[in-house]
Amino acid sequence: MDTDRRNFLKKTAVAGGALALGFSACSPAREETITGGEGSLSQAGRSLKILILGGTTFTGPHHVRYAIERGHEVTIFTRGRSQPGLFQDSFEQVEHLIGDRGEDLSALRGRSWDAVIDASGRDVEWTRNSAELLRDAAGTYLYISSTGVYYPYLTTEITEDTGPVLEESSTGRSSSSSYGVMKALSEIEVHKAFGDRACVVRPGYIVGPLDMTHRGTYWPERFRRGGEVLVPGKKDDLVQQIDVRDLTEWIVHLLENQIHGVFNATGPASPLTMEVFIDGMKAITSAEVSYTWIEDYEFLTEHNFTFAIPWIMPVGNNFGSQRISVARAKDAGLTYRSIAVTALDTLEWYHSGAMTDEQRGDPPMPVSPARESEILSVWKARASL
Ligand SMILES: NC(=O)c1ccc[n+]([C@@H]2O[C@H](COP(=O)([O-])OP(=O)(O)OC[C@H]3O[C@@H](n4cnc5c(N)ncnc54)[C@H](OP(=O)(O)O)[C@@H]3O)[C@@H](O)[C@H]2O)c1
Repeated sequence: MDTDRRNFLKKTAVAGGALALGFSACSPAREETITGGEGSLSQAGRSLKILILGGTTFTGPHHVRYAIERGHEVTIFTRGRSQPGLFQDSFEQVEHLIGDRGEDLSALRGRSWDAVIDASGRDVEWTRNSAELLRDAAGTYLYISSTGVYYPYLTTEITEDTGPVLEESSTGRSSSSSYGVMKALSEIEVHKAFGDRACVVRPGYIVGPLDMTHRGTYWPERFRRGGEVLVPGKKDDLVQQIDVRDLTEWIVHLLENQIHGVFNATGPASPLTMEVFIDGMKAITSAEVSYTWIEDYEFLTEHNFTFAIPWIMPVGNNFGSQRISVARAKDAGLTYRSIAVTALDTLEWYHSGAMTDEQRGDPPMPVSPARESEILSVWKARASL
């Protein structure tokens, strides 16, 4: 299929999906970059030298592509093990420094950058060491943190003024808790080294092309397959996620405009219920689909079906996880593609040559087709009693 035709079909489908989602039809977030550019490259009107710690897996390639498109000079720092799955042309224009955040930062010494994007922060000491080393060698240090810093999410309407959790509770240790505390302590290291030149971005679930966790692949792929879909959760449960391109393009926008501070970064722009989300997913496919809602949390818990991102059962420690305020980020220029665009682009990537058959064969989805039918059968048998 030629590109024009594919784009036409995509736009048509997107318009349907966008309508179902209650959004105006589609809209790449930063229109100016797609139509070829208006405005200055940066506040200073010059190309920036940007260092990305990481850069080759999920968020990284999107940062690289967009920064190059904007005319910036990009250096990445990795161990050289992961390879970018998209945007090879952009990577040809990138300087690649090899090292290890755990033990060898020597490639970063004696160099300087306008801004650093720390996109591989998985250890407090890694962040402390790189932030200290780059304190006088970079203008801005932008750390990609996570809304996980608020875990456990016990309140609703979490804003940036809600204090991050700095210690794991001795009774409630979990991987979510360790991850959140690690991110919160890492943020402190960035603030210590960079002061008001620090920028901390706290994304929620990041979805879109290149997400090998396939959290954002589940729903588009499930609806593409068609048939009877088990939809977990109450229809008015809220859901939040952010397209990786909305996030990474906005991060470049923050750097260009020298915007610092702490920002939650998830979406969409206004509250989205699971019911509207699911209607939107239905609108991206022409497959025959019917759905069976299971709103009974007890039953879902019994069958170990407590999340299907962006939905996560809003109880206990996850009570407020999908009610994160994004007002500050929107004020600082964060804009959103429609959820239909994200879903269609995710599907296009998932079924493209960028994924091997093996990778597609056994993705880490929340529930397999066989398990889904099994749960549906038990649910119906119970309902008919
Ligand atoms: N995915 C989400 O939904 C989500 C949500 C909130 C926040 N976040 C945060 O978003 C950030 C970006 O996520 P991501 O998935 O794009 O990146 P990531 O998986 O955290 O980082 C991968 C990159 O870091 C490099 N890397 C890994 N270990 C390294 C080491 N020891 N030394 C040097 N480089 C190393 C990898 O290349 P090599 O393997 O070649 O070294 C790769 O380029 C992360 O900090 C994550 O915590 C993610």
